[in-house]
Amino acid sequence: MKKHILSSLLLLVSIMPIFAQKTGTIAKNGMVSTAHPVASRVGLDILKKGGNAFDAAVAVKFALAVVYPRAGNISGGGFLVYRTASGENGSLDFRERAPLSASRDMYLDKNGNVIKNLSLKGALAVGVPGTVDGMYELWSKKGKLPWKALIQPSVDLAQNGFELTKAEADKLNIYQDVLKEMNGAPNPYISPAGKWKKGDRIINKSLANTLTAVRDNGRAGFYEGKVADDLVNTIQKNGGILSHKDLREYKSIWRGTISADYRGYTIHSMPPPSSGGIALAQLFTGSEMMNLSDYKHNSPDAIHLMTELERRVYADRATHLGDPDFYDVPQAMLLDREYLRKRFSDIRMDKKTDSQRIKPGKVNRIESLETTHLSIVDKDGNAASITTSLNGNYGSKLMAKEGGYLLNNVMDDFSSKPGTPNQFGLVGAEANAIAPGKRMLSSMSPSIVEKDGKLFMVVGTPGGSTIITSVYQTILNIIDHGMSMREAVDAKKFHSQWLPDVIVMEEKSFSSETLDSLRKRGHKLKFASQLGRMDCVLVRPDGSLEGASDTNRSDGQALGY
Ligand code: DON
Repeated sequence: MKKHILSSLLLLVSIMPIFAQKTGTIAKNGMVSTAHPVASRVGLDILKKGGNAFDAAVAVKFALAVVYPRAGNISGGGFLVYRTASGENGSLDFRERAPLSASRDMYLDKNGNVIKNLSLKGALAVGVPGTVDGMYELWSKKGKLPWKALIQPSVDLAQNGFELTKAEADKLNIYQDVLKEMNGAPNPYISPAGKWKKGDRIINKSLANTLTAVRDNGRAGFYEGKVADDLVNTIQKNGGILSHKDLREYKSIWRGTISADYRGYTIHSMPPPSSGGIALAQLFTGSEMMNLSDYKHNSPDAIHLMTELERRVYADRATHLGDPDFYDVPQAMLLDREYLRKRFSDIRMDKKTDSQRIKPGKVNRIESLETTHLSIVDKDGNAASITTSLNGNYGSKLMAKEGGYLLNNVMDDFSSKPGTPNQFGLVGAEANAIAPGKRMLSSMSPSIVEKDGKLFMVVGTPGGSTIITSVYQTILNIIDHGMSMREAVDAKKFHSQWLPDVIVMEEKSFSSETLDSLRKRGHKLKFASQLGRMDCVLVRPDGSLEGASDTNRSDGQALGY
């Protein structure tokens, strides 16, 4: 009898951690996790109406363009990584391209120096938008519901208005002056009262008209006709070079995924022109080679080892990665196990490697800007992982004059000059030099994880160069540390990227012993208020779904049914 009680107690203790786990939103049939509650609601409604994950993704993408103007967009671009219910994986590249009259040195002065802000602000910063083409292509090949049903919710939101969340009101307030400087007033994003607050309504009739054209004419509604005329006029009047030919010729591209195995799981992520897939594959292969899972979560040893892996991986990124349609990316070499074994063989646990020894370069700041990610799973098990961006907050800050939407500043993702860092402190070389029609290298890493050949997790985040390391840590938190999706998203993060030669850590999140131990090994530490803004879905052992939006760091929402 006693033995019986003892074994029951032991069983209870062994399953207690499961009960003790803090979880996100749990549902059985479908889950939508996005950066904005209204966009998540739009996606959930589409799933409930019988749309699949791809229908919901299209509807959410357009809804974000209305309710999340800092990053949601119709004039940006991005990547989709998908997995169908039948187990097929792939990706869609709707990344922006350089205009056809772009040139390698377009951001340099006559002395060959980078002209400050030219690739970041105003018309010359704008790459050829890919979003509408990408969403139309996705819907044409994988959607179920009528196109109009997916766009109508966004037309309504722009026409009738939506309420600002606190985070959105605060963010818009920071950019009031520059938006006014670039676009004049009145303007839907400039508060008539001088300052936005939570609950204020934004109505954007011009955007409603643009979305109506897209609803009624599909791809042509944006790349041809009045909307295209207005876009080209706005850009050319403001000194930009984007033309009708650029819009006509833009084409999104179906690609495969870069896949890596890690401790019985397979991680599928985005191939070039994203650096995410290759970098994540290198990081997971290195993590397995170096037995990272033996170390405690966020312990000094784990942080040190991951930093040393990241240092080498980001050095490869800077040198070897670019648009594969323009540059012969040595993908096979970068993923080769022998190459990686050698690459990581000089890592020591007691001392950091000096980044300058790996390859010289100059350093710059790492700034947290905005992009947005959405993760969706439907009742059949189709999964969509999309990261999309205007690049900086509110992109180039320039709006299409009649169209009511903001234009991207993604040209800054190119390497304007070899060795000179961009806004994320990333340096690049020939592989990512500007050329007409070329796609700029990205860090966006929408990813899908499988276990035993089945869907396990959908994951992604904004964060510029920190995207890759945030996705890496979130996946490790689940696989190595047994966290729930909620806990994995909440967990404190750190980031390093070869140059600058520092570890950026979320402030007030790590003990002084941890910080001291890292400093003793030679690491320089910097602190950031937050890293990542994840939106993820996990398939739990009983088949239910756990959605988690990064609500501790901002105000997104995961909704399921
Ligand atoms: O494609 C890239 O890597 C960048 N344009 C992403 C920018 C970004 O994530 C900004 N957000 N926080």
